[in-house]
Amino acid sequence: MKGVFPITIFETTDTPFYYYDTDLLRKTLHAINDEIDKYENFYVHYAVKANANPKILNIICQAGLGADCVSGGEIQASLNAGFTSDKIVFAGVGKSDREIKLGLDKNIYCFNVESIPELEVINQLANECGKVASVALRINPNVGAHTHANITTGLAENKFGIAMSDMEEVINKALQMKNVKFVGLHFHIGSQILDMGDFIALCNRINDIQTQLESHHIEIKSINVGGGLGIDYQHPNRVSIPDFKSYFETYAKHLKLRKGQSLHFELGRSVVGQCGSLITKVLYVKHGAVKQFVIVDAGMTDLIRPALYQAYHKIENISNDEDTVTYDVVGPICESSDVFAKAIDLNECHRGDLIAIRSAGAYGEIMASQYNCRSLPKGYIKEEMF
Ligand code: LLP
Repeated sequence: MKGVFPITIFETTDTPFYYYDTDLLRKTLHAINDEIDKYENFYVHYAVKANANPKILNIICQAGLGADCVSGGEIQASLNAGFTSDKIVFAGVGKSDREIKLGLDKNIYCFNVESIPELEVINQLANECGKVASVALRINPNVGAHTHANITTGLAENKFGIAMSDMEEVINKALQMKNVKFVGLHFHIGSQILDMGDFIALCNRINDIQTQLESHHIEIKSINVGGGLGIDYQHPNRVSIPDFKSYFETYAKHLKLRKGQSLHFELGRSVVGQCGSLITKVLYVKHGAVKQFVIVDAGMTDLIRPALYQAYHKIENISNDEDTVTYDVVGPICESSDVFAKAIDLNECHRGDLIAIRSAGAYGEIMASQYNCRSLPKGYIKEEMF
């Protein structure tokens, strides 16, 4: 066992694979529950898009969280893992008829609706199957988040949500429909947010919206503020559990909830990010003209975040403690963007050494592809490795 890894077992396991430290996952879930227990009416729905590995979903379900889904496949995966339908919320700008019917059929807690045409289709399909669908309207609050442009969602220019200027019209439409029940508002401003000021800005915007709607006697039963809390990619060991205390306190302090209102969160990355590592093996050390390359057997097909968002993941050679050498760490895929890191210091690498790419529990395994006809990486939890 080196550091946090069962290294001897890794040595006999086919690479690349994801390894999930389920003790850390359970501690993280405890930390979340300890915080939300302090507040009445705070509910966390795990954002399944971050990681839908059935073993991980099952542990999260056992901790009592609900599920936030963005496709019929995610609804099904959540139900299979044991989540009850009354804790499932369903968002997404492009829900297909089949997916809406699945949500209706399973009586999910709420559809987060993103446009008038979608609202009309839900009303019609609910009518056809004799149901009333609970809906929350996803409002685009035009609040920026200080994060990567590709993962900012709450600006007016983004495709997500209903414009604030159309909000009242859409609510009134929903209130008139027979087969939908308007329950509240939904927001999400972006992901990997570490500046609590961004969440405060969202709270302030929601407070204004609530005052405006109250003056028109529109009742809101539930508010869903989405997810977005970031993790410390630089220090996966030192800051292995995100600061949930400050996060929930920020909402408790700045969001003016009305009597009886429930507050819902959709956390993904902060739940699973730090518990996962991508374990890969050094195939070759290549001495180039100006730099040295460590070529590993994992590629952007296994973890696309560095190629897609220029995301930083801490990388470690977990096979030895030799002096460090500066390398570019690259995968075998035929794309020049298949690079995990440039000019980083690693303990000197040799063919066969094991490399851990840390903080890969969120948006890692789930975003893997089979480009170049590669196999999808396997995911193992700690219990399977001892
Ligand atoms: N709710 C909604 C409506 C969302 O769109 C998202 C993430 C979440 C909740 C969960 O956000 P989280 O707590 O995980 O930040 N693939 C990107 C991240 C995309 C996030 C998409 N939406 C990445 O690897 O950084």
